Amino acid sequence: MSDFPFFFTWTAQQGAKPLELTGGEGAWFTTGDGGRWLDLGALSYQVNVGHGNRRIVEAIKRQADQLCISAPNAVFPAKTELANRLLAMAGPQFTKVFFTLGGAEANENALKIARLFTGRLKNIARYRSYHGASMGAVALTGDWRRPAIEPALPGVVHVQDCYCDRCPFGKRVESCARECATNIGDVMKLEQGVSAVFLEPVPGANGVLVPPPEYWPIVRRACDEAGALLVADEVLTGFGRTGKPFGFQHWDVVPDLITVAKGLASGYATIGAVIVHERIAKYFEDHVLAAGLTYYAHPTACAAAVETMKVYDDERLYENAARLGPVLRRELDAVAARIGRGFVRSLGLLGALEVDAPLAQWGVLGKELAARRLSLHVDGKRATAIFAPPLCISEQELVTGMRAFGDAAVAAFGTT
Ligand SMILES: Cc1ncc(COP(=O)(O)O)c(C=O)c1O
Repeated sequence: MSDFPFFFTWTAQQGAKPLELTGGEGAWFTTGDGGRWLDLGALSYQVNVGHGNRRIVEAIKRQADQLCISAPNAVFPAKTELANRLLAMAGPQFTKVFFTLGGAEANENALKIARLFTGRLKNIARYRSYHGASMGAVALTGDWRRPAIEPALPGVVHVQDCYCDRCPFGKRVESCARECATNIGDVMKLEQGVSAVFLEPVPGANGVLVPPPEYWPIVRRACDEAGALLVADEVLTGFGRTGKPFGFQHWDVVPDLITVAKGLASGYATIGAVIVHERIAKYFEDHVLAAGLTYYAHPTACAAAVETMKVYDDERLYENAARLGPVLRRELDAVAARIGRGFVRSLGLLGALEVDAPLAQWGVLGKELAARRLSLHVDGKRATAIFAPPLCISEQELVTGMRAFGDAAVAAFGTT
């Protein structure tokens, strides 16, 4: 039996790796054993503003003093301000926000909104995707987290990914006709009655699969032809992670629904949202929106999110992510060159190094690096190490961390 009176997630309890977090500042967090870690993963991809931000903590305190409990139909300034900020960030086509407590619930409610609006039951998502752990969201999810609980929500059809380094359609760059994108239109025609297509702008935890520039516009056109909604799951990519406010803003497209969480309050409070396009929002003026939550737009979470968004602006954190994106890319390329192998993919401060060996070996990286007096938090999935530091990281911190990571990679895989 594990020593703890609660479950650890996504693991057999005996295999759990407890992390005794005690605090942190900026790009660093501290642990109970006196450790100080450079956080190259923003914990679970949520700490975009960085650790220990006093402004956000104080905003939560002020809100708790003023109004700490609300009802779903309550109206108060932080709720309205947050919705307005999200709409401004998404663009003029978006007119309403539905609040949730996290990312899975955002996708859960996007599923419902799409179904109510279209009257259709089927959905399309990709294999290399994660959309959350609740029944609907995990049914959308394509990765290993879905099969264990199937059958979940019926009617989700999975399609292949924009995985250019190992193209599922067997194409090379020269011969590629963007089959990964056109296939989605083909599948929609064959399936019929598709309500929505759920896509992460850049699949994050499944390997940072940056799509070719035509990908999203092709899928957008296919959705329009099929009468299906296009949902951008920005839970991981939103709030500057890729160097733009939202990931989809790298391409000339407008989704119908945008789901957000993680960076929205940067982990300082539990909040997510669905940002809704005007044409869909209008439908619910005279149709019941059959969705709701007791803790809809909790005051302290709204206050945390508003302050988080102010911090993004004041500290120009999206710009910092855009500026440091090429630095992360250069350092990843350097690591791949040092170990003489690997695919590098990145957009802004979201990067991946995929090697051709099962990465149980990445598990030793923490120890290897600790031995070099620098502990790094890096997310490792199967054959891929993924990098998503807080957007406040400095160039020097990023370079130091990536070089230390390179040393550990050489220790694990050999060569220079
Ligand atoms: C793209 C994406 N969507 C949804 C989720 C689920 O969010 P949450 O864990 O807040 O439910 C995640 C979490 O990792 C995610 O990366």
